[in-house]
Amino acid sequence: MPQKRGSIEKNSVILCIQWRQNRLNITLHCTFYMQHSTSQLKLSQLAASIPGSAILAFSNAVKERIRNGEKIYNLTVGDFDPSVFPIPRVLEEAIIDAYRNRQTNYPLAEGNADLRETLSSFIADVQGLCYPASDILVAAGGRPLIYAAYQVIVDPGDKVIYPVPSWNNNYYVQLTKGHHCRIETRPEHHFMPVAEEIAPHISDAVLLALCSPQNPTGTCYTADQLKDVCRLVVKENERRGPGKKKLYILYDQIYHLLTHQQTEHADPVSVFPRVKPYCIYVDAISKGFAATGVRVGWGYGPEPVIAKMKAVLSHVGAWAPMAEQKAVASFLQSRDAVKQFLDPFKKELFDRLQQIYNAIRLFKREGLPVDAIAPQASIYLTVKIDIPGDASALLLNGAGIALLPFSVFGATKSKKWYRLSVGTCRKEAISPMLRAFKKILQENGEPAHHSRSREA
Ligand SMILES: Cc1ncc(COP(=O)(O)O)c(C=O)c1O
Repeated sequence: MPQKRGSIEKNSVILCIQWRQNRLNITLHCTFYMQHSTSQLKLSQLAASIPGSAILAFSNAVKERIRNGEKIYNLTVGDFDPSVFPIPRVLEEAIIDAYRNRQTNYPLAEGNADLRETLSSFIADVQGLCYPASDILVAAGGRPLIYAAYQVIVDPGDKVIYPVPSWNNNYYVQLTKGHHCRIETRPEHHFMPVAEEIAPHISDAVLLALCSPQNPTGTCYTADQLKDVCRLVVKENERRGPGKKKLYILYDQIYHLLTHQQTEHADPVSVFPRVKPYCIYVDAISKGFAATGVRVGWGYGPEPVIAKMKAVLSHVGAWAPMAEQKAVASFLQSRDAVKQFLDPFKKELFDRLQQIYNAIRLFKREGLPVDAIAPQASIYLTVKIDIPGDASALLLNGAGIALLPFSVFGATKSKKWYRLSVGTCRKEAISPMLRAFKKILQENGEPAHHSRSREA
């Protein structure tokens, strides 16, 4: 029968059911769906080649199983359960007030002036940096700003350096038809890309995409590590001379308000001021204020670059809604309200991460094939599970524990490493989850001192 639009949609439903039944190769089915549907449709080359997010495919398959009644400890999501971690009450009320006050028309394309003024002083307070409102662009969360930064810097074939594992850079490079230069980062450096790893690739690159605190690892650059990277970038740009395309750093610091304990957030311009003409920051309320669905983000950097990003986004129309902009402006003006929210929020996140980390270290001391990197920031814990086979499938099917492998963040070498997120984790679920986790390790793992590392 000839395939029409309707039947293509039917095929996608059939594939969803297959996802449910096949517990292992979720991403494989995703690819199959792409191939199947694009064989029916004639669209652009981009449409034919762009895959959906492997992270979301994995997480959505887990959510589907939960909807079907399975009990799963879902530690896959880079989001928050609002019943556990609601947005700040003050912000919630300000949003409702703004709608009641009919703040419902178009905002300014670059973001409302009052919000950009507030952000300018917020950046000065938090980072000690001077960015006037004209250097700031507001959008509907971090994503449109990252997209716009890529679009204004990267031409087809241009080299983009990014670490793996990292969040979504592979897709942004694909969207801009750039040349992927992946740096496989190492556990010794907490999976942060260091200057000596970046240096060999820098001579013809146009963009260096960095993120700290980093998703998926929950780890951060130290000021010294970052300073070395910035020094490289400035030196390289001086070498290129006038008239040549420069190398920019895209610095995604969307988790920077969520540093734990002694960890201090380092950012490029603070540690190495001469990098300022080449650095574009991306930030948002999404993670720091548990407000992923509220959609307010901001980018800042050299005014001419920001102006071009604004031009790109003015056609995309990815503005943060007027009412949310008004509310965020009034919320961020109250440093007390921000602190009153952040202090207990961070404590709740850290307590969960630390409890899981302590248990994993204990399992390791007991000889089980598991390890973790001490939590530094965000909602993520980096966990190593050194058992034969597919540990995520074993954990999911055997213990109802869902973690994301680093492979969905583009990593090919760190096969035994996983991201564990506490964004939807209830405290009372931690002990039973850890018991189930330990049982799987005992049943499937050789004791660590007998096992050979299978890392490439
Ligand atoms: C590192 C990083 N940057 C950017 C984003 C996107 O943020 P937003 O939801 O504000 O678009 C995410 C979302 O998970 C993220 O983890």
